[in-house]
Amino acid sequence: MPTIHITASRSYDVEIAHGCLSTLGQRAAQLVKGRAAALVSDNAVAAHYGDQARASLEAAGFLVMTYVFPHGEQSKSGDNYLRLLNFLAENRLTRTDLLVALGGGVTGDLGGFAAATYLRGIRYIQIPTTLLAMVDSSVGGKTAIDLPAGKNLCGAFYQPSLVLCDPDLLATLPEPVFRDGCAEVIKYGVLGSRELFDRLRETPARQQLEYVIATCVDMKRDVVEDDEFDTGRRQLLNLGHTLGHAVEAGSHFQLSHGQSVAVGMAMIARAAAKFGFCTEETRDEIVSLLTKYGLPTETDQSPEELYQTALGDKKRKGGSLTLVVPQEIGKCLLHRISVEDLPKWIEAGM
Ligand code: GLY
Repeated sequence: MPTIHITASRSYDVEIAHGCLSTLGQRAAQLVKGRAAALVSDNAVAAHYGDQARASLEAAGFLVMTYVFPHGEQSKSGDNYLRLLNFLAENRLTRTDLLVALGGGVTGDLGGFAAATYLRGIRYIQIPTTLLAMVDSSVGGKTAIDLPAGKNLCGAFYQPSLVLCDPDLLATLPEPVFRDGCAEVIKYGVLGSRELFDRLRETPARQQLEYVIATCVDMKRDVVEDDEFDTGRRQLLNLGHTLGHAVEAGSHFQLSHGQSVAVGMAMIARAAAKFGFCTEETRDEIVSLLTKYGLPTETDQSPEELYQTALGDKKRKGGSLTLVVPQEIGKCLLHRISVEDLPKWIEAGM
């Protein structure tokens, strides 16, 4: 069973194995001296896996306090974050104690940011329960909450002490949420692995979960070790995200993140083919794999609407922004454009 070791400002293992949730307590006891653990989860995940996580921690001698919040992006708010910090303080968690984030991207971001800031930082374990969180957001230490002005505008780079990816936890994941994760998996294929891309074409991701998760995490390891603080190569992980974020915000979040990234990837592939960065065959391969996984590849928003929304992207730097452009399957480049050129890319991507 693969264990991938990440060497960053904090070094840690990402363990990918069926049933590894049951090792939580034993692994946690090796990581911290304290014996108090805050188990942070949303109500949907807590109902499925909360008892199992708690039992494993208690069996290893931890006193467990559970913080459960309502499922959904709205829980990544400043209010919920402060409630969580107060919960940790009222339960007198100390610097030698532990936080466990059990859930998808919202839980990982919220729990990670609370761990980064409570007492100026306590250790935390990520237990992702969505495919998207397993292959991407639980690894690499990006933690954040949303502000009224936009998503993820307040956060920190703060690496976990351990990530436990248990593919068994995906059994209860609703199909549309699983498909969202497939968009990120396809992203990794386009970014860096022809083999992953071809295997996704041949065999459904669900039938090869350990391979899929381990391949994506290994690629993410490579990028994070090289550029932990997202000043260069890590920006490649934004493939499909610049236009995808515009599509997501423009749909007033009716489209999910994964669906929006799929549209963003298809748009950038169409534009890349039009401007000669990749062949039409590469474009068609990307669009048809997204379609095969039930993901959308087009938007009915107008180019002008998308442009206006994209201007608000937090990754814009003054008058320019960096697009991730596919060259071939397994190879992309960072391409800096001026904001004035963005409409041209959007038009070409429609
Ligand atoms: N999810 C993109 C990153 O971790 O950089």
